[in-house]
Amino acid sequence: MQALRNAWYVAAWDHEVTTGAPFARMILGEPLVFWRNASGEVIAFEDRCCHRQAPLSRGRVEGDSLRCGYHGLRFDSTGRCIEIPGARAIPPRARVQRFPVVVHRRWVMVWMGQESAADHALLPGNFSCEHPDWRYRPGYLHYGTPWGLIADNLLDFSHLSYVHAQTLGGTDRIASVRPEVTRIQDGVRVSRFIPDVTLPPYFKPLWRYEGRVDRWQTYDFVLPATLIMHSGARRAGAAQGATVDEVDFHSCQALTPETADSTHYFFMEAHRSHQGDTSTTDGLYQGLLQAFEEDRQMILAQLRNLRARPGSPMLPLPMDEALVRFQRLFQQRLAAEAAESVPAKAPTEPSRESSEH
Ligand code: FES
Ligand SMILES: [Fe+2]
Repeated sequence: MQALRNAWYVAAWDHEVTTGAPFARMILGEPLVFWRNASGEVIAFEDRCCHRQAPLSRGRVEGDSLRCGYHGLRFDSTGRCIEIPGARAIPPRARVQRFPVVVHRRWVMVWMGQESAADHALLPGNFSCEHPDWRYRPGYLHYGTPWGLIADNLLDFSHLSYVHAQTLGGTDRIASVRPEVTRIQDGVRVSRFIPDVTLPPYFKPLWRYEGRVDRWQTYDFVLPATLIMHSGARRAGAAQGATVDEVDFHSCQALTPETADSTHYFFMEAHRSHQGDTSTTDGLYQGLLQAFEEDRQMILAQLRNLRARPGSPMLPLPMDEALVRFQRLFQQRLAAEAAESVPAKAPTEPSRESSEH
């Protein structure tokens, strides 16, 4: 499965990159190492020493530098080699590639494309990852599947009725209500209102309400593969804000391709800080983990079928609207990126290389 390069990807939760120890993670098939310099700033290098290709993540952080654990080359924060044990001169080519990286509301985000195109305006709207009004536990799952199958799952919540009957769903009604799907900048917006249903089991740590509720989910799914969602429930039939019988969540989720066939999944769903205590936060986190494991098992099983008979056609249905529209946008951007990275050919002079082919 292909992926865009000119994009910010979540590489880690900020607590994963500790002071003093390098942290390894493969992204888009490239081994990367993340470390913090003396002032706590996160640095990202390719996890590959320029000497003999050993992973730098097996080395150690020394103040503002990272030392390879094989033969001791030492690199400064820019990736330049500043020490070669036993050698007086340092060749100019002794350096490792550095990637643009920024800690954005607890997400360590890395730019995998051209450095000159790295634009902070493209960072995601994951405000609740760092906001006093919201509380959550950060989550991570590793998927042995291409990122696209997980994106498809997140773009069609009709599956909540069936995959998550005992957790996030709790009713068949979700699948029977058509969402409104609109194109937005860099993605799609999906909104669903589900009137007059029972409260799903997932809500129970936060809200032990026995009556019927109206539920809503509104999320943006934006490139490269980030979901930002408002959702909640209130007493059935009540107007917004008119009842105390109401809870809401804010969720931020991101898919980062590890390789063409595997994916890092970063997620959280925050509840209001003034509602519940830490046991509420823990209970909701455990519920979410259980639900996302339900997704993982379904998608792994789906992948086994896809691999057993490659090329089997999918049957397009109305519920696929958001994923079809997102897929179209993704393919357009992929094509644009490919066109930008192909060096322009001189039209009049056929190159010698091409005639030799
Ligand atoms: S491989 Fe890193 S110093 Fe030799
Ligand atoms: Fe799901």
